[in-house]
Amino acid sequence: MSRISDELLLVKTMISNFQLVRVSPLINIFLLKYMNKFTKVNVGGRLVLHSHLPPINCKAFSRFINKHLLAKVQGPTHAQIGLTNDCSQNCDYCYNRNRTGEIMDKDTIKKVIKELKEMGVIWLGLTGGEPLLNKDIVEIVDSIGDDCAVKLFTGGYNLTRELANDLKKAGLFYVSVSLDHWKEEEHNKIRGCGDSYKTALKAIEIFREIGGIHIGVSSVLSKSMLNESQIEEFMQFLIGLGVHEVWLSEIKPANKTLWDENVIISEEERDNLIKLQDKYNKQGKITVNYLGHFESSEHFGCNAGHKMIYIDAFGAVNPCVFSPTTFGNVNCPSFLNCILNSFTLIMGSVVM
Ligand SMILES: C[S@@+](CC[C@H](N)C(=O)[O-])C[C@H]1O[C@@H](n2cnc3c(N)ncnc32)[C@H](O)[C@@H]1O
Ligand code: SF4
Repeated sequence: MSRISDELLLVKTMISNFQLVRVSPLINIFLLKYMNKFTKVNVGGRLVLHSHLPPINCKAFSRFINKHLLAKVQGPTHAQIGLTNDCSQNCDYCYNRNRTGEIMDKDTIKKVIKELKEMGVIWLGLTGGEPLLNKDIVEIVDSIGDDCAVKLFTGGYNLTRELANDLKKAGLFYVSVSLDHWKEEEHNKIRGCGDSYKTALKAIEIFREIGGIHIGVSSVLSKSMLNESQIEEFMQFLIGLGVHEVWLSEIKPANKTLWDENVIISEEERDNLIKLQDKYNKQGKITVNYLGHFESSEHFGCNAGHKMIYIDAFGAVNPCVFSPTTFGNVNCPSFLNCILNSFTLIMGSVVM
């Protein structure tokens, strides 16, 4: 689509979300400044800033304005849900490493998603384990509805053209395929699995062929990747793949073995990643979405347990994917109360 039609689409979006004028001017200025940092990408008529927000001309974005900016509901905007804990890879850094329990069935997952939406969730990440190993994934995506953006995190296992098409028809719009290194042997080593690189590239190829899906790569960066100036080479490789976005994150110390200064990045390294994001976003060849930028105190802050929630594949309710802290389990009689209590608890400690 041409630049002019994109601009028209943007104007149309602003008009259809005219209720934004009732939002505090300070929030509007913040949002405008934030949005200006990213090139808006048109994917099948949907305008995307980056994949951690719903497309700005979709129902989910209007719901975000109405429920969170205007009605100021206490519940989360973002949720991730584990569709399975099974996985054929073995990444040392995986935030699900030590999780155990009884796996949620399809009906529980669908019920939890419905309740999360009622609480205000407008962006839902499907994760795992490898979520494509859940045989009910199409039915689950289909149950979500078009007023919530859906993003799939995957290593690509089990993906066929047919499954990708079915997921798209069911309402999947964002995918993020994990790729931690541009060199096959390095990526496979990190992932503890000999064919993960080929699987990831094949998945990207399938999603590109079917079209109409926003394709991202999720890359977890090691300290050596940051320090040995390899990041620029990696970025060029990702641009060459023809994906819309790279979702960058450092290794988060999600389990005790990662509490190590050789793993956790420094403030200077974080600043460098923010500069890298700004540089590439100005060039506009690929969107760089660095989690440390989104959740920095200058932008949306840490949303764990406040605007973000994670329900792992065993039903444990956590403040975010990286935190093993649990507030309860969806299988407890009053799941909704259990979540609302945790929000009240966190909001109380934030206010104090
Ligand atoms: C848990 S995985 C589930 C989906 C699929 N198995 C995959 O690896 O893409 C979701 C995403 O979280 C990332 N991830 C897992 N543990 C992490 C950690 N400790 N720090 C940062 N990212 C992490 C993975 O690299 C992946 O991109
Ligand atoms: S592929 Fe994903 S779920 Fe599997 S071990 Fe790696 S990060 Fe964890």
